[in-house]
Amino acid sequence: MSAENTPSDTNEYLLEVVNARKTFPGVVALDGVQLKIRPGTVHALMGENGAGKSTLMKIIAGVYIPDEGEVRLRGKPLTLTGPLDALEAGIAMIHQELNLMPFMTIAENIWIRREPLNAFGLVDHRALHDKTQALFERLGITMDPDMEVRHLTIAGRQMVEIAKAVSYESDVLIMDEPTSALTDREVEHLFRIINDLRAQGKGIVYITHKMDEVFTVADDISVFRDGQFIHCAKASDMTSDEIIKLMVGREVTQMFPKETVPIGDVVLSVRNLSLEGVFTDVSFDVRAGEIVGLAGLVGSGRTNVAETLFGVTPATSGEIKVNGTSVAITSPHQAMVNGMALLTEDRKETGLFLDLSVLENMEIAVLRDGYTRSGFVSQGVLDDQCESMKSLLKVKTPNLDERIGNLSGGNQQKVLIGRWLLTKPKILILDEPTRGIDVGAKAEIHRMVTKLASEGVAVIMISSELPEVMGMSDRILVMHGGRVTGVVPREEASQVRIMELASSPMGADAA
Ligand SMILES: Nc1ncnc2c1ncn2[C@@H]1O[C@H](COP(=O)(O)OP(=O)(O)OP(=O)(O)O)[C@@H](O)[C@H]1O
Ligand SMILES: [Mg+2]
Repeated sequence: MSAENTPSDTNEYLLEVVNARKTFPGVVALDGVQLKIRPGTVHALMGENGAGKSTLMKIIAGVYIPDEGEVRLRGKPLTLTGPLDALEAGIAMIHQELNLMPFMTIAENIWIRREPLNAFGLVDHRALHDKTQALFERLGITMDPDMEVRHLTIAGRQMVEIAKAVSYESDVLIMDEPTSALTDREVEHLFRIINDLRAQGKGIVYITHKMDEVFTVADDISVFRDGQFIHCAKASDMTSDEIIKLMVGREVTQMFPKETVPIGDVVLSVRNLSLEGVFTDVSFDVRAGEIVGLAGLVGSGRTNVAETLFGVTPATSGEIKVNGTSVAITSPHQAMVNGMALLTEDRKETGLFLDLSVLENMEIAVLRDGYTRSGFVSQGVLDDQCESMKSLLKVKTPNLDERIGNLSGGNQQKVLIGRWLLTKPKILILDEPTRGIDVGAKAEIHRMVTKLASEGVAVIMISSELPEVMGMSDRILVMHGGRVTGVVPREEASQVRIMELASSPMGADAA
């Protein structure tokens, strides 16, 4: 395939990047890449974790200045010295990592630095509210503009970021993994918004690792690999196998390598677990070697259950037994002493120490609590373990001393997975483990989880991607409104059955 067959139904591109190069210490993030966006189209950027997608978008959005190359808007070269320049030129970006202020309201976050003022030069709160309301009505969003952002779920925050980007009325809208925390219904909602914007002639750059989304929403697709531009074509002229091959440079087949492994004794037993006002009477068992999926819509209580098991928000009633013994888990420390590990869904808020190194981020759980259970671990041994975890998970970083904040989103997630695997948990709780992970690495992570199960680890896995839950789990616990509405064995699992239980409070009683 040649790099020259960029779709060109139009004689003028809305946005063009020509020959862009960007290096960081020890990393060539982009090397002579191109991008051509036609007006009124959605252009998907595809590539493995660390391929350079976000870096390219940050160049277009004025966050990074390229070492070489040019950005052109309607044929005219742009000189961007910062994000405000880009916004003024008509380019807005929704970042991969959410950037809202938790203690400000939704409306304040959206119109930050653009607040409507009253005659005294003070913020006009009435107008601020009304403007937000009008924006939400146009976008079909039902949220209270005056609510503080910290009360929102990640999905809610993502919708606010989307609304904010749209509010700039830009010609080019960059969406860097906008749906990573959204459920199917919210994704559909976003696609309706995107279709409107496309019909208005705007150009939308769309980054995702979800192949089905690409074919639903994209007109054109550009593929990048290792900082290089590989290929661009119309979506209708490509298949997902072709894209994956271009991304990864080899065939990737087995998506969910679920093996049948011997199922052992009950390791974790949960009875009538409740967190007042959040979830009620949750009961289930997980055996050694078993992978139990937790499905449900955002807000159904899945993450809350995970956090309660791990002692982040201790239960108000109910019982947790580990290996047959009743345990009081009132802090993450106690959960870890009992052999638990929790990979949280929101890596920026609860997982990463952005200013620490990759090594420090990876070893922190072992250093803090590991001694008590697994005996003394010498720093040298630990460093070696981190090094092998890095190669096992194929973390893309110049070295382990790199600041983790400099890693690409997917690679940060891999480091967090490594952190918890190093603690050698007996009970592994994974909340959206493959969010932001590329297709190739996803299969690797599924393989690792399966391997851990085969070694006798009890696994609980939350995922909003139904094929992932269905592909990986022995049993699927479905939640709605803070209650378990059904337990579906692997053999009986279908998207329809799970969605029924996930959307109906009338589901069968938990077994
Ligand atoms: N500020 C930075 N400092 C140092 N290195 C960086 C910085 N930003 C990005 N990189 C490196 O540049 C490369 C490309 O990163 P980028 O974030 O563009 O990848 P990506 O394609 O968006 O990946 P993902 O799918 O994981 O989000 C990676 O190796 C990353 O570690
Ligand atoms: Mg990225």
